[in-house]
Amino acid sequence: MTAINRRRALTGSAAIAVGVPVLAACGSDTSTAVDSSGSADSGSGSSGGAGGEALASAADVPVGGCFVVSGAKVVLTQPTEGDFKAFTAVCTHQGCLVESSTEGDIPCPCHSSKFSLDDGSPISGPASAPLEAVEIRVSGDSITLA
Ligand code: FES
Repeated sequence: MTAINRRRALTGSAAIAVGVPVLAACGSDTSTAVDSSGSADSGSGSSGGAGGEALASAADVPVGGCFVVSGAKVVLTQPTEGDFKAFTAVCTHQGCLVESSTEGDIPCPCHSSKFSLDDGSPISGPASAPLEAVEIRVSGDSITLA
């Protein structure tokens, strides 16, 4: 092998070695964005979705606000005292998790869409489709998936 061929071979190896971490970084970038978009979490939500799964206690959900259970990707709302509703916490715009709030709506931190506490319909922002309703059961102070 001549000196030129060895140099070319080494340069090619370096290019491959540099390319691999770049691809790995791109792959992890998406999961980082999803992880960082969820904020307040009860810590009680697991990755399930099965009926009867405990989501939160009623006291976690503010009247006139919402509480996000990140693990279950569900947002619980209490538009008026004692009236609980639940929706998917995945924004219909580009898939970020919405945030917990006491401000009278369900906000998305990514592009500032806001959804109704009553029916999950979009109030403002780029999202145009409603958050899908999730069936829940409220028993005493416990809120579970129905
Ligand atoms: Fe929610 Fe864009 S992902 S507003």
